[in-house]
Amino acid sequence: MTKKAWGGRFAAPTDSQVEAFTESISFDARLAAVDVKGSQAHARMLADVGLITQQEADQICAALDEILGEFKRGEIELTSSLEDVHMHIESALIARLGDTGRKLHTARSRNDQVATDLKLYVREAIDEIDGLLENLQRAFVSRCEDELEVVIPAYTHLQRAQPVSAAHYWLCYCEKLQRDRDRLSDCRRRVNISPLGSAALAGTSLPIDRNRTAEALEFDGVAANSLDVSSDRDFLIEFTSCLALIAAHLSSWAEEWILWCSTEFGYLTLPDAYTTGSSIMPQKKNPDVLELIRGKSARIIAATQQLYLLVKGLPLAYNRDLQEDKLAVFAAYDTVRACLQLAPDIVANAVLNREQIESRLEEGFVDATALMEYLIKRGVPMRTGHEVVGNLVAHCEAGRRRLADLTLVELQGACPDIGPDVFDVLGAKNAAAALNSYGSGGATSVKAQIEQWTERLAEK
Ligand code: ARG
Repeated sequence: MTKKAWGGRFAAPTDSQVEAFTESISFDARLAAVDVKGSQAHARMLADVGLITQQEADQICAALDEILGEFKRGEIELTSSLEDVHMHIESALIARLGDTGRKLHTARSRNDQVATDLKLYVREAIDEIDGLLENLQRAFVSRCEDELEVVIPAYTHLQRAQPVSAAHYWLCYCEKLQRDRDRLSDCRRRVNISPLGSAALAGTSLPIDRNRTAEALEFDGVAANSLDVSSDRDFLIEFTSCLALIAAHLSSWAEEWILWCSTEFGYLTLPDAYTTGSSIMPQKKNPDVLELIRGKSARIIAATQQLYLLVKGLPLAYNRDLQEDKLAVFAAYDTVRACLQLAPDIVANAVLNREQIESRLEEGFVDATALMEYLIKRGVPMRTGHEVVGNLVAHCEAGRRRLADLTLVELQGACPDIGPDVFDVLGAKNAAAALNSYGSGGATSVKAQIEQWTERLAEK
């Protein structure tokens, strides 16, 4: 039986079922590195303000390095009787250094300790996810130059709408991912405020220097209210909210590409290495990775909900409920990371089936809006132009023809303002090329977007 660090007031040992029920070491062991980092900063500060000697701080820091090594190599036995990562490390320290080890927890509680650990961990996670998002942006941009002139139908309501450059599609995802990155960097500002030194909930009477630990741990500031620190998990909710939106973007991208890989669309072929077969149907090549990116988004999006439910009814300040925060955060983080690690290769290596796309590009009247805009340029009021083209579409549909198949006489019969130059805007490729306002899907506008993205991603 392990003697508890907090065992002074207890006569009887903890029930073993209670230990198993209350432990968090099975999921918080991954905090070991940040826990040691936080403890080393704390020990240095304790020495600087004279609460321990410099020599004691040196011993503590060196021992913590060794303990972390043992932890990483799996040489430290994990036991529910030591509850969590903080107790495992502290007890290893005390086993090594005796009374010197017993001084580390001066002016500190596991409440500010775990908050500090989580902030350090999430800060690293944000930087990692940001890099992965950038990789994915690069993958989309990598296709653009080659596919700038490929015109594909764009949809609303999953009905063919207007033709755009394929590169416009790819860069659409770059924009979404950029907002994800911006949100993460905004979240990081609030993550990066130091909880350390708030102790249990009320601060301490000991002469600590919280600025010193904050600086050592590269925090941008010090949290101003100890009660707030002890109870605050906003930063986790913000972080998982950012991840949820990333997951939503990945999921709808996956959905889009799953459709595009179907025989019905036939726009894309995924690399063999990223698809799987069927155990019964020999012909199948399934987009399972994309389906699981879509499916796993549920787990990521659920984390924020889980955290809201966790905190919404808690009285101030720390409550043991908060131990459960890590399960939601780690699940969301691990899952987003796994998706983002796979996505760039799929994006960069999927083959766009240009011939298949082109062979059906003229279906669905994707040039109808271009014709309407042609009329507007000739002074026809927009609503009148809309109606004229609508009538022409109905006329074509009945005769199984395309707008570009109509004769000039037929077109002028519908609207006398139409001239022979109308054939320069009819047809999907002409219609796409005409889209030239800022942010449009025509090649000229998209070329400018590509240049911008290439420059932006080269900056670092
Ligand atoms: N294992 C706990 C957690 O993850 C650490 C903090 C425990 N604090 C306490 N007063 N029991 O939240």
